[in-house]
Amino acid sequence: MKPEIAPSILSCDPADYAGSVKEMMQAGADWIHLDVMDGQFVPPITFGGALAERLAELGPTPLEAHLMTETPERHFEAFRMCKRIIFHIEATSHAHRLCQTLKSMGVQAGVAINPGTSERLLEPLIGAADLFLVMTVNPGWGGQALIWECVEKVGRLRTLTPDTPIEVDGGVDVQSISRIYQAGANVFVAGSYLMKARTIAEGIEGLRERCV
Ligand code: DX5
Ligand code: ZN
Repeated sequence: MKPEIAPSILSCDPADYAGSVKEMMQAGADWIHLDVMDGQFVPPITFGGALAERLAELGPTPLEAHLMTETPERHFEAFRMCKRIIFHIEATSHAHRLCQTLKSMGVQAGVAINPGTSERLLEPLIGAADLFLVMTVNPGWGGQALIWECVEKVGRLRTLTPDTPIEVDGGVDVQSISRIYQAGANVFVAGSYLMKARTIAEGIEGLRERCV
């Protein structure tokens, strides 16, 4: 599958999210990744749908909302301008139904797993979900070290489902991306790495080049 790069705004200056998103869009990002945290599922709080509304107006690049929230379905309506909404399987007893709900809204359904959750929980959702997201750090903060055991889960998940897109989130940089790509992931979230790159465009290009 063709690699896609999804820059996260989590490590950007919150006073200038619009400026950062414009730069990401101009730099050829495939998605803009919005990390939504509720202070419950994870300790920090980030932002709600009002910010996503404004960011969606900045250009044609699709947004994806990564809901790190309890009762994720409470937030579906607020983020329905996103092309994809990703919720955590640990936050609901009804992952299959929530995938159906998102699809009925015309939104792609993504299901995420934490580092401590087995990829086998995703198997019954093959076909129901449009994408699986494997967290390679514990959710809540940018800039953490990648947990390599989680990349092994990507490989096992790819064997279970050859066709479902698999996204990886946490610790993606030019050093780690090629092994993650070889394991079978095809969508890559990048937060702190892109902030350290000389320009976001150069950072994205560097990541793409290493997907071989
Ligand atoms: C972490 C978020 C990530 C975060 C990744 O909870 O889900 O999207 O921005 O940051 P890096 O790329 O710095 O690990
Ligand atoms: Zn994320």
